[in-house]
Amino acid sequence: MLTPVGWGSGSRLFAPAWTMATPESKRGPARLLAFKLGATTPFPTPPDIVPPVPKPPPQTASAETIQEGKHIYRRFVCDGCHSPDIDGSGAWVRNGAVPDLRYAPPEVHKQWYAIVLAGTHWDKGMPGFANPPKFAFPNAKMTTKEADAVHAYVIDQAWKAYNAEQQKAQAKN
Ligand code: HEC
Repeated sequence: MLTPVGWGSGSRLFAPAWTMATPESKRGPARLLAFKLGATTPFPTPPDIVPPVPKPPPQTASAETIQEGKHIYRRFVCDGCHSPDIDGSGAWVRNGAVPDLRYAPPEVHKQWYAIVLAGTHWDKGMPGFANPPKFAFPNAKMTTKEADAVHAYVIDQAWKAYNAEQQKAQAKN
């Protein structure tokens, strides 16, 4: 018997990450487990590597814009794939798995419009939300102002995760 194990794909469309996996099980590579009656080989346990949250870009938006960004994140169904309240994998994954946006490296922040509006990662399952819309819903096209607001919200969430991690590290010292 074979069973796929891992994180990503359409499972994100059904429920938030925390209802489906532990922080540890969300990490580690996607893999295929093969079961055989009477077999004795233990499963290889992949290393549970928790990457640090990269330092996010400076927050330049107002609290109001961040809040607006949170609504836009829901309205454009970013939460459908990236999970509500950016409750993601806790890792930066690529090649078609859904990344936790709080872990976005600097180059992704720099390419925000290209990725989110123009859809440069469309072939990997990340829709473009502007003109022409490459996503079936909603019909409204995302404006640059909306893209900025949703970016501000993502940066806000990234700073929260980054600061929480720094505080944890300090408490340990
Ligand atoms: C249909 C599912 C889906 C929706 C809806 C979606 N994304 Fe994504 N997104 C993905 C996938 C899959 C990737 C990974 C693409 C890759 O591997 O390059 C991704 C990647 C990204 C990336 C990083 C691209 C990179 O360099 O790897 C950003 C930023 C992003 N999404 C933002 C958003 C925002 C903002 C929204 C809402 C406006 C949104 N996404 C909605 C599936 C989705």
